[in-house]
Amino acid sequence: MANILAGKKGIIFGALDNQSIAWKVAERCVEEGAQIVLTNAPVAMRMGEIKNLAEKCNAPVIGADATSLEDLENLVRQSMEHFGGKVDFVLHSIGMSVNVRKGKAYTDLNYEWMQKTFDVSAISFHKLMQTLWKMDAVNDWGSILALTYIAAQRVFPDYSEMAESKALLESFARSFGYHLGTAKHIRVNTISQSPTMTTAGQGVKGFTEFFGYAEKMSPLGNAPAEACADYCVAMFSDLTRYVTMQNLFHDGGFSNMGMNPAVLAQ
Ligand SMILES: NC(=O)c1ccc[n+]([C@@H]2O[C@H](COP(=O)([O-])OP(=O)(O)OC[C@H]3O[C@@H](n4cnc5c(N)ncnc54)[C@H](O)[C@@H]3O)[C@@H](O)[C@H]2O)c1
Repeated sequence: MANILAGKKGIIFGALDNQSIAWKVAERCVEEGAQIVLTNAPVAMRMGEIKNLAEKCNAPVIGADATSLEDLENLVRQSMEHFGGKVDFVLHSIGMSVNVRKGKAYTDLNYEWMQKTFDVSAISFHKLMQTLWKMDAVNDWGSILALTYIAAQRVFPDYSEMAESKALLESFARSFGYHLGTAKHIRVNTISQSPTMTTAGQGVKGFTEFFGYAEKMSPLGNAPAEACADYCVAMFSDLTRYVTMQNLFHDGGFSNMGMNPAVLAQ
């Protein structure tokens, strides 16, 4: 490829194992000439797989629970020290629902767990951007991305409270996108990705069947994680400098389909 991220520096959240979307994004960013810092929750890092990615990408791993302001400040400070300056891009690739994990029905949710879900999956994105803002940690014309899902707009019953998490996440992208754009030409977007076979994805009830349904429904088929990584690279590059405050569907056309005869035929 053309090294379209040459000279750029970024922080990538959420690479758990080699199925993670963030894992593929990290690999592609480095292939395109970027330098990166990898981060994940300390509990996820104990699984140890991220070390293999770190070696491959020649990147330090700095643990941070994305719900902890103290951890986020430490991460940003250490990343700036490592790079000798500000960063150009950040990927938020974090999602977790306590109620889904514990098999709670949408009509019987535990509200303490719901708050934890919102904190991990959505408020962490605001906390991250606020930390970057206060520490003046992103270069002008930088790019911030978070991954989301179409359940923010349409009903997918088994996605449960993650639907509201993603709606909140997308709203934070727009609102903070205004402030970061006005002050420093920094863009903030969300990418709404097809169902993807990852740890987080497969945590949703009936995921395998739904994956097949979405595959049939989408004229181009489900977008794989590798293609999502390509899209993230494009959004981090200087080729997309005026795209901001958008929710960008990366889903093989699923979001604009009403009915596909291929699904009816089944
Ligand atoms: N897999 C799908 O079908 C799909 C579809 C659309 C969007 N997404 C989104 O993509 C993103 C990445 O998910 P994935 O599918 O690659 O799954 P994944 O399980 O590989 O990644 C989720 C990551 O979130 C991290 N995380 C959880 N709690 C955290 C915390 N407190 N602090 C820091 N990190 C924490 C996990 O350690 C993990 O690395 C999520 O936002 C997810 O909702 C996934």
